[in-house]
Amino acid sequence: MSTVDTRTADTGTVDTGTADTRPAAPAGVRAHAVARVEDVPPGEGRAFVAGGVQVAVFRLRDGSLHATQAACPHAGGPLADGQTDPDVLVCPLHLYGFRWTDGSSTGGVPPLTRYPVRELDGMVVVET
Ligand code: FES
Repeated sequence: MSTVDTRTADTGTVDTGTADTRPAAPAGVRAHAVARVEDVPPGEGRAFVAGGVQVAVFRLRDGSLHATQAACPHAGGPLADGQTDPDVLVCPLHLYGFRWTDGSSTGGVPPLTRYPVRELDGMVVVET
């Protein structure tokens, strides 16, 4: 059974325990529980801090989770307020789109940084 260490500044650093069979994160990468899954409603995004990194977490209507940098690489727009569909995130400031698959822009601006994210014991866990 996995536990969440709540002693850190954000919601917690995750101990993935022995039941988690996924490969370990690369050296230097830490997993952070940033919210309960229900804190990110389907079809919406929310901004969090994961290990000192500002991230935007999205739960698409199919239930999938995605995490990106919080500020748009074009001009710093608040990506957590963007519109989503199954393929892209659209920044609310100038409406450039970014593909979930690789973070690339559909309009020629720099790509997004994406972060691994998953649900673990009802929590949204982001690796930074
Ligand atoms: S700030 Fe995001 S598209 Fe311009």
